[in-house]
Amino acid sequence: MLVNQSFPSTLRHGALAAACALAALGLSACGSSDDDGPATPALATLDGQPPQVVGHRGASGYLPEHTLEAYTLAINQGADVIEPDLVMTKDGVLIARHDPNLIYSTNVESIAKFASRKKTVLVDGASETGWFASDFTLAEIKELGAIITTDATRPKTYDGLYKIPTLQEIINLAKSRSTGSRTVAIYPETKNPTFHRDLGLPLEDTLITQLTAAGWNSRTAPVYVQSFEPSSLKYLRSKGLNVRLIQLIDADDYDLKTGKLTYAAPYDRPYEWTQAGDTRTFAAMVTAAGLAEIKTYADGIGPWKPYIVPVKGDLDSAGNLKDLNGDGVVNYADARSQTPTTLIADAHKAGLFVHAYTFRNEQRRLAYDYNGDPLAEYKQFYRLGLDGLFTDFPDTAVAARAEYLKEMGR
Ligand code: G3P
Ligand code: CA
Repeated sequence: MLVNQSFPSTLRHGALAAACALAALGLSACGSSDDDGPATPALATLDGQPPQVVGHRGASGYLPEHTLEAYTLAINQGADVIEPDLVMTKDGVLIARHDPNLIYSTNVESIAKFASRKKTVLVDGASETGWFASDFTLAEIKELGAIITTDATRPKTYDGLYKIPTLQEIINLAKSRSTGSRTVAIYPETKNPTFHRDLGLPLEDTLITQLTAAGWNSRTAPVYVQSFEPSSLKYLRSKGLNVRLIQLIDADDYDLKTGKLTYAAPYDRPYEWTQAGDTRTFAAMVTAAGLAEIKTYADGIGPWKPYIVPVKGDLDSAGNLKDLNGDGVVNYADARSQTPTTLIADAHKAGLFVHAYTFRNEQRRLAYDYNGDPLAEYKQFYRLGLDGLFTDFPDTAVAARAEYLKEMGR
């Protein structure tokens, strides 16, 4: 189990351990040396431990996301952590869905008895039409089946077969798969917390109650809680939740011509900032001042991965993007990864760990210079000292980590 260890067992000398404690804070380099062997370079993660692999919505590259089956597959593939996004039912039960709108990830649209529940609402200021979890009891939610999302190339074979799980069922799964030598952690996200609060269905108190009941309300519990909205994390902390908290950092898109991130609603800033008239974007969070502010209420940051390795396309003489791979479309697969930013080092210096999202195997989601090899992308981020990552393909992330650790002499 990779969570909750302080230093590698290879560190046997007090002075060296002290040096590595500094390295873990990004303040110096260190390594270990067996008496009769070459020095082993230190890992550049904040705690000196191997990076964590988080099964993003389960092994969602293979099976419909946020199902016990997808989480189980992620665990079987070696993920250290499984990630449920949380929304709330009409009767106050936390369930795993990426969106309050069930149309994206379930077969609700095909169930005649629910047809009249279709409606249009504002979610974080954006108009959405569909069926919303907050209009369904848990019993009704259990009549739905999950469907594959995100990528049209992913298999639809399992659509409708698997149920929507509750947070409690996910806690039970993680516990049942934890043994003496391995602990499976969970990484719940409070989804659209302002939206839920405005509905009268706040997520946070129920989350605290359930984690506490599970015996998982401590800093060493196998739990990370994440949110895009600072107020959700601050509330959780103020109400006595002691697990590790992570501030997610989003953007709307990237401009392949400039290599810069772009900011458009509703992904430009936490919705609570929008409501308050605060015009800063998520970019404010990656400044020194932003990181210092996050450190007052959280333990880590969860940035979108271009914040760490930007991507940019090649331009022709007319200033147009080149179709580098010659497939007739210009997209992410035609962009090259750029010089990494200093975000990981900056965050480590502020005492924050960094868990980036989202890593995926599909060719169109890989920058051109990775040559179609997803392991190359993972290894670049691991070498930069990333502390963990969210992946739809935990098996690939685990395989890349093994290669990286071998490269590092472990
Ligand atoms: O939770 C980490 C990352 O996955 C955030 O993006 O949209 O999948 O919740 P999203
Ligand atoms: Ca192309």
